[in-house]
This record gives sequence, C-alpha cells and structure tokens, in this order.
Amino acid sequence: MASKYQVPRGTFDVLPGDARGRARIEHAAAAIFARAGYERIATPAFEDTELFERGVGRSTDIVRKEMFTFEDKGGRSITLRPEGTAPICRAYLEHGMHKLAQPVKLCYSGPFFRHERPQAGRFRQFHQVGVEAIGTDSPLADAEAIMLLHDVLAELGVPGVELRLGSLGSPGSRRAYLDDLSAYLRSHEDELSREVRERIDLNPLRAFDADDEATQAAMASAPTLVERLDGEDARHFAEVRDLLDAAGIAYTIDATLVRGLDYYTRTIFSFVCEELGAQSEVGGGGRYDGLIEQLGGPPTPAVGWAAGIERILLALGEAAEAPPREAFVAVAEESQRRRAMTLVAELRHAGISAEVDLGGRGLKGQLKHADRIGARRVLILEADGSAQLRDMESGEQRPVEAGRLVDEIGRAES
Ligand code: HAM
Repeated sequence: MASKYQVPRGTFDVLPGDARGRARIEHAAAAIFARAGYERIATPAFEDTELFERGVGRSTDIVRKEMFTFEDKGGRSITLRPEGTAPICRAYLEHGMHKLAQPVKLCYSGPFFRHERPQAGRFRQFHQVGVEAIGTDSPLADAEAIMLLHDVLAELGVPGVELRLGSLGSPGSRRAYLDDLSAYLRSHEDELSREVRERIDLNPLRAFDADDEATQAAMASAPTLVERLDGEDARHFAEVRDLLDAAGIAYTIDATLVRGLDYYTRTIFSFVCEELGAQSEVGGGGRYDGLIEQLGGPPTPAVGWAAGIERILLALGEAAEAPPREAFVAVAEESQRRRAMTLVAELRHAGISAEVDLGGRGLKGQLKHADRIGARRVLILEADGSAQLRDMESGEQRPVEAGRLVDEIGRAES
C-alpha cells in the first residue's frame, strides 16, 4: 500500500513505537527542570528572518546556508526557527521579563529546522529540549545549567557521555585573541582549506572545527583562547570548574571547542557520545552575555543549552517498551456492548487502562485481538449478566462477581 508520497528529505514520521521513547525523554527532562524551578516557554515555529541573522550571526553556517527562509503573503521574510535561544531572548524583551525576579529560568521542547545534508543523527526537522537562565552572569548559573544537562542524560541512562568544557572569554579579550589567531592563520595560509582561508576575517575560530586534515595539522599549534583568558574571564571559568568539581561532574577542558553559533561568550560546553560517530554531540550550549543587547535590549547576561532528542534516542539505541495494556473487556453477546463501554469508563476512571473491541468482532475475534495488543486480562461479559476474568498469560479463567468487576481487576493489578 505504499503511496507515491513520502516524508520530505531529512524528516521522519514519529510512529507510536518511536513516540514512547521521545515521551520518556521529554518527561524526564521536564521533571528535572521543574525541580530546579525552570518554567516552560514556547515560541512560534517561525520568526522574522532578521532575528536569526542578528542573533545567531551572519557568518555562521546556520544563517549562511541552513535556514528554511521564505516570503509570506505580506512580503515579510520568515524563517523556520533553526534554534531556540534567539526566539526566547526576543520573547524575554517583548514581554518585559527583565521586570521579573532575575534570573528568569525557562525550559522548552519542540521542533527545529535546519537545511543540512541529512545523515545519521542529522535531520532537517529535529527536536530539542533545553533551558535558558536569563539575567545573571554568575558562574553558579553556568554550573547549574551544566548539571541539569548532566542529570537529564544520567537519568535517561545515555551511555558513554563525555563533557567538554571551554571558555571564549568576553568580547574584549576575545577580540585581542582573534587578531592573534587571524595573524597565525595568515602566516599558515597555504596549509589551510579554501573554506577556512575565506573565513579568516569573518570567523577565524571555525578553523579549529575544520574537517580538512592539513588544516587540522596547522591548527595543532595555533594559540588558544583558554590559555589567554584575562582576569575576570579566567576567574569566572575557574569558578565554573570548581563548582563542577564540587558536584562530582567530570569534564575535560577543550581549548579548541567551538560552537556553530556566534552569540557565545565565556563558558561553552558540549556533551558528546563518541559512539554516535560524526554527529556525536547529544547536547551543548553556553553563556551568551551579549545576545539580548545585540537584539536591541539592555545588557543582560544569560546561559543555556539544548540537547537533540533524536541524538539521545540514537545513543540509547533501544526502543522503549510498550506500556502494559491491563484489561480488555470482551462481550459474549452483542447485548453486552453498552455494559462493556460503561465498565471500561469506570476502569479508566479508577486509573486502570482498559479497552473494548471497536471493530464489531465476535467473542473469538475479540480474544484474538486482546492477545494481539498484549492485554494482560480479559473480562468476558456473558449474556446472562455474569462475568469471567481470564488471565491471558496463564490462560486461567474464573468467574467474578458482577458487582465487583472494577475491584477485582484493580486487585489483580496490584
Ligand atoms: P546547537 O549546538 O546548534 O545549539 O544544537 C543543540 C543540539 O541540537 C545539538 O547538540 C544536537 O544534539 C541537536 N541538533 C542540532 N542540529 C541538529 C540536526 N540537524 N539534527 C539533529 N539534531 C540536531 C543550539 O541550538 C543552541 N540554541 C543551544 C543553546 C541554548 N545555547 C544556549 N542556550
């Protein structure tokens, strides 16, 4: 029955079997966020294109080549959101959230869109869970953000996760460093890939991220920012590290860590799972002290991260088990259908999952169907008002008192 239509390239359908694993991730994350006082925010799936151009940065791959951008009927340039931080900062400003108690701690979950070349773990529509703490420059907030992502991955049992930590410093120290780095790149120009050469002025840091071997070799002895952080930045970074040490969270300092978004300042971090291959980052983020100002607001420091739900599912490599189907109410005769319907409603209200046949099957067909969907018990309503309870695993069947059906099934559950 294959139809001629297929899901668009780089996208996928979430079928019921897949939905369970996703729901588990979202619920685990939501519970961890709630216990830490992060409240849910949801922004639209699309925004004015300029928000991402200004927010994410014109020199990034995301803005240069990965945005789904189109003109709406009013002639406005609209972009499907490639990430959530710029939209949340937009919402923070638009709703005057600076008047609330700071920091404003927010969490989110939803679909994002990037026109990337699809491969394992990389999609054109993917899903993130994430947090943002807006309105504090304290290293405590950086450490808390990292702890939350650590806790989500630990709670889900994601295996082989490593935390990489770096610091980009603040704009002043970064500018001085970038000048030095550009000079270094220029003096090694003939060893660099064309793409890196073309971006020496635009974004020299991305040279550390290059796939090209000759470029990588040249970058091995390039100056790094972590070793040059000045006073305040160095102190901030040391404190984040101390807090992580105190929390018992292991990390490696990665002096060449770069992220594909321009807004980061100071702390950046990445949780990777090497088994995932090329797309090994399950989640990451960092501090973005200049973004809100960049979007036209007052100076407002902030920190956050996002994790990819599909990457977590891949790393877990397991299908979530189907929830148990506890009771199925079958009828021996058509006259009992209405009674069956009333009974399943009662069972459901009592917190027991219960189903009836919606397909007009005979008793034999109902039992077969109950078996197929994995029902643990079937209650058979007889024409004379009596009832039988059958345990589908053992095949045992016994009469149950008509007035005590809900109690009997509830008791069998516990
Ligand atoms: P990002 O590193 O671009 O950061 O994405 C975060 C996570 O989303 C990645 O670690 C990855 O798991 C997942 N991801 C990204 N692109 C794809 C894709 N094409 N297919 C599947 N998964 C993908 C951000 O988006 C920042 N907004 C994070 C942040 C929040 N920084 C501060 N606050």
